[in-house]
Amino acid sequence: MINYSERIPNNVDLSGNRALQRALERWQPSFLQWWDDMGPDGSSNYDVYLRTAVGVDPKGRAHFDYVKMPDYRWGIFLAPSEGDRKIGFGEHKGEPVWQEVPGEYRSTLRRIIVTQGDTEPASVEQQRHLGLTAPSLYDLRNLFQVNVEEGRHLWAMVYLLHAHFGRDGREEAEALLERRSGDADKPRILTAFNEKTPDWLSFFMFTFITDRDGKFQLASLTESAFDPLARTCRFMLAEEAHHMFVGESGVARIIQRTCEVMRELETTDPARLRAAGVIDLPTLQKYLNFHYSITGDLFGAELSSNAATYYTNGLKGRFGEDRLDDDHRLHEDEDEYGIPDVADDRIVERHVPALSALNERLRDDWIRDLQAGIERWNRIPARFGFGLAFKLPHKGFHRRIGVFAGVHVSPEGELMSEAEWTHRHREWLPTAADRLFVHSLMGRCLEPGKFANWIAPPARGVNDQPVEFEYVRFN
Ligand SMILES: [Fe+2]
Ligand SMILES: [Fe+2]
Repeated sequence: MINYSERIPNNVDLSGNRALQRALERWQPSFLQWWDDMGPDGSSNYDVYLRTAVGVDPKGRAHFDYVKMPDYRWGIFLAPSEGDRKIGFGEHKGEPVWQEVPGEYRSTLRRIIVTQGDTEPASVEQQRHLGLTAPSLYDLRNLFQVNVEEGRHLWAMVYLLHAHFGRDGREEAEALLERRSGDADKPRILTAFNEKTPDWLSFFMFTFITDRDGKFQLASLTESAFDPLARTCRFMLAEEAHHMFVGESGVARIIQRTCEVMRELETTDPARLRAAGVIDLPTLQKYLNFHYSITGDLFGAELSSNAATYYTNGLKGRFGEDRLDDDHRLHEDEDEYGIPDVADDRIVERHVPALSALNERLRDDWIRDLQAGIERWNRIPARFGFGLAFKLPHKGFHRRIGVFAGVHVSPEGELMSEAEWTHRHREWLPTAADRLFVHSLMGRCLEPGKFANWIAPPARGVNDQPVEFEYVRFN
C-alpha cells in the first residue's frame, strides 16, 4: 500500500532517504505553481470524481472519490520489483538489471527520461482550456482524470531525475516546469507536443493516437536494464490504457451520433449534417489524418543509430521484447527489417539491419495497434448500414521527419509534386473552415446526464456509476 500520510505519497520508501525527500519537497511547490498556472483552466474549486492509486496492484489502482484537483495526491509509484530480473536484450543480456545508472550511460539515460518527462506536462498545457467547452460532466471528469495522471507521470520522471542523476537531474526537473507547449522561446522538446488541442475532437484524436505513442515508448522502456525506469514505466502504462480508452470511445461516440443523424435525415451530405449540428465523417477522417501524421514523426527517423545504441546498451528495448523469438541482440547482418525509402520518384521498401530500424519497428507496432482501433470504429457505420470506413493514411503522408520529410505523399501513398500537394491537401487535412466548424459546436453542457448534440452518451459510466452521475461538482 502507498503511504498517504506523507507529503509526497510514495512506495519507494522516501522517508528512508532524507536528502532525496527534501529535494523533492522543494520541487513540489514549483510543481503546484505550474499546475496553478498551466493546469486545467478555472478548475481549482471543483470536486471531481477521480481515481487515485492507493496501491500498485489492480485493486489499489481502482480507488474513486471526489477530489479537488489542486489537492490531488500526486505521488511516486513503482510497479513491484521482479526480484532477480535479468537484462533481456543488447550486449548486457543475461546480466542482472541495474539499480543505479552506469556512468557511461548517464547522459543518454537522462536524455531519454527528460524527453519522456517533457511530454507529460506538455499535454496538460495543450488541454488546459478544454474544460470550458466540455460536452458533458462525464467527459469533463475524464479530461481531468487524464490531466492529473499526466501530472503524475511528470512526477514519475522527476523522481528518477532526482534519485539517480544528482545535480544535473535536479536542474532538468526544474527545466521541465519552465518549458511551455507552443512557446516560441521555450517550447516543449517534441513538435507534436507544441501543437494546439483546441477542441474536443482534437482531444479525443490526441488521446487515441498520441497517448498511444506514449504506450509504445513506455512499453519499450519497461524493458530497460535500468530497473527503476522499467518499474516506473510499468506502472505508468496502466494509467495510459485509460487515456487511450477516453480517446477511442470519445471518437466512437461522435461517429455513433453522426450515424444516428445520417439515418434520421437519410443523408450523408456533409453540409446537411453540419447544419444539423454533427460532425460529418469526412471531417473526422481529416482529423485522424492530421493526428496520425504528426504523431508518426514522434518515433523518429526510419534509420537511427541512436536507437541502435540505446538497444545495444540495454537502455530501451523493443515492444514486447521477451515475447520475440530471436537472440535479442540483433547483431548486424543477421536480422533484417524492411523500411520505406524514396528512390527515383517511387516509394520502395529497403531491407536494412534490424538494429538500425528500431524506430520504424516501433512505429509499425503502434500502427498495428491503431489499426485495430480503427476497425472497431468502422463497425459503427456498418451497423447503421453505411458503407463508409475510416482508413489510416499511408505512412509517408504529411511527414516532417525521416525519408518522407522532403516529399509529398497522398493518403493512398502516391508521391506528388509540390503543386499538386498545394492543390489537394485541403481534401486530406482539416482546413481553417473545418476547424472553425468543429469549434462552433463546442459549448459547455454540464447538466448531469445531458450530452452535447454532436456526441452520443457512453455505454456506461465511470466505476459502475450511472451515466447521469454527478461526476463533477461545482462549488
Ligand atoms: Fe503520460
Ligand atoms: Fe497519457
